[in-house]
Amino acid sequence: MQIPSTVAIIMDGNGRWAKKRGLPRTAGHKKGADTIRDIGLAANDIGIKKLILYAFSTENWKRPEDEVGYLCKLPGIFFDRYMKELMENNIRVTFAGELEKFPEETQKVIQKAVNLSQNNTGLNLCLAINYGSRREIVLGIQKYAQDIKEQKRNNDLTEDEFQQYLFVPEDIDLMIRTSGEVRLSNFLLWQVAYSEFIFTPVPWPDFDRQCLIDCIKEYNERDRRFGGLSS
Ligand code: IPE
Ligand code: IPE
Ligand code: MG
Repeated sequence: MQIPSTVAIIMDGNGRWAKKRGLPRTAGHKKGADTIRDIGLAANDIGIKKLILYAFSTENWKRPEDEVGYLCKLPGIFFDRYMKELMENNIRVTFAGELEKFPEETQKVIQKAVNLSQNNTGLNLCLAINYGSRREIVLGIQKYAQDIKEQKRNNDLTEDEFQQYLFVPEDIDLMIRTSGEVRLSNFLLWQVAYSEFIFTPVPWPDFDRQCLIDCIKEYNERDRRFGGLSS
């Protein structure tokens, strides 16, 4: 079986999962964090190189204050509980997005996990937090403009070179969205140019190792032509 090297997941449906059980939305986020642990370990075992998980979008600030507050606390809860296990499994934690907007404490726990795991050589578990793809592209253009100004570059930018200015500089092989919505919600717009997409009705808190394996099986049935012809 061909293992996709870079997989991205839009972890959607925490709120609906909780509502269905008569629980507050935050209970769905808490269970969703346990799923991050399960799927991170599974992706590492399977041999995926980079797993990018959409955890908080630039648009999610619009949610009620108490929900945003809980989501800011979640990285702390998650790493307290699971960092040891991630380290034992050689998993490297990274992030994509503008961390600066989060409370100091949230920034600190994320930075600590990144530093602690920076030499690990297993899965790169990348959390997209305060991430928005349009913002990422605009920031990339600003950085490029700055490099021109400082005469580090001239005016001959290629597609591959521009991609290096993004938070996520890789192409995505497989993009998964849980919980039934069929949209990208401002996630990795540049990087999905030739991705395979899978939209599953399973809400994120119920997405398990077998669901990930099923997605990879489906990915293997796709004929990726990249504009050429089947081989
Ligand atoms: C995804 O679940 C988690 C975040 C966006 C932070 P939702 O909170 O969007 O859950 P639904 O879509 O309302 O069910
Ligand atoms: C996308 O989910 C963002 C994350 C999963 C973090 P949303 O629930 O915010 O997206 P919409 O509002 O349904 O498009
Ligand atoms: Mg949602």
